[in-house]
Amino acid sequence: MSVDWFIAGAGALALIIVAVRIFRILYNILAPYVFLKPIDLKKRAGASWAVVTGATDGIGKGYCFELAARGFNILLVSRTQSKLDATKQEILAKYPHINVRTAAYDFTDASTSGYQNLLTQLNEVDVGILVNNVGMFHGYPEIVHKIEFGSARDVAVVNTLPPTLLTAGILPQMVARKAGIIVNIGSSAGFNPMAQWAIYSATKKYVSWLSAILRKEYEHQGITVQNIAPMLVSTKMTGNPRSAFLVPDVTKFVKSAVNTIGNVAETTGYIGHQIQAEFTGLLPAFVIDKAVAAKSEQLRNLAFAKRGKSS
Ligand SMILES: NC(=O)c1ccc[n+]([C@@H]2O[C@H](COP(=O)([O-])OP(=O)(O)OC[C@H]3O[C@@H](n4cnc5c(N)ncnc54)[C@H](OP(=O)(O)O)[C@@H]3O)[C@@H](O)[C@H]2O)c1
Repeated sequence: MSVDWFIAGAGALALIIVAVRIFRILYNILAPYVFLKPIDLKKRAGASWAVVTGATDGIGKGYCFELAARGFNILLVSRTQSKLDATKQEILAKYPHINVRTAAYDFTDASTSGYQNLLTQLNEVDVGILVNNVGMFHGYPEIVHKIEFGSARDVAVVNTLPPTLLTAGILPQMVARKAGIIVNIGSSAGFNPMAQWAIYSATKKYVSWLSAILRKEYEHQGITVQNIAPMLVSTKMTGNPRSAFLVPDVTKFVKSAVNTIGNVAETTGYIGHQIQAEFTGLLPAFVIDKAVAAKSEQLRNLAFAKRGKSS
């Protein structure tokens, strides 16, 4: 082969690779958020109850209201009974035709008996949708040995055990029905290994891998498994920042995320976040590392200032 042919071939290959990349980016942004129609959730779920963890605030509470609006009965799981009761009343005031139950559980309790008791309550209803939403962050970005030990433990436990054990405990009824939907709330923090976010970032990568593996194991049995990996949503966990196109409020975010169920296996949940994720994904790792370091320092200083500490 002459040198000219080799150069022409390499150029054509490079063009094809770039074209495929551009097509994939456009597909990831436009297909779930513009072109694909939401599926019939009731049919795919195969049962009338939705179980949502971390249901009394933020994204989890948003899923409760959105799924109630779509006619599902809701079983709320969170740690504070008074907040569960208040959220139940709020939902029933807006959607009086559905049933709402509550189960109080503090997911820092990793005991087998604790999970077994909780699962007994959850399996009293026909679970069509399980939303593994509960998650924690250790306050502010920090290198691992400086994170308070108990907090490090809690973040690792709360971010990984619920999607693992609740999924394992509820799958039997879904498998028997050959229908069901599992939505795991990960985070875009799982896209890159983020210094000073070690436990949070690693646990969210775990959620993404767990979801991908569950799809391989259960999709052919009629069960849909989705990983939603948001960027910044205005919630208590993120300090309730003012909402904007790139920082949606919970209602806007969740409505968008629920519309993607069954159409896409892993996505950020919202078009503004997907645009951010696609373009961030083009950056070299060292640029991302620098941006993460700068943002982490800013957040840590803010947290220290709030607590009256000095860094
Ligand atoms: N907000 C974002 O920008 C963002 C971005 C990416 C991913 N995420 C993920 O989205 C999920 C929800 O985050 P969020 O921002 O909505 O959080 P949030 O506003 O802080 O709400 C968390 C919910 O979980 C409950 N909860 C917290 N710790 C618990 C525990 N140990 N046991 C039982 N329930 C507990 C809280 O109950 P109480 O009301 O009693 O505290 C509350 O209902 C998390 O998995 C998070 O990692 C959020």
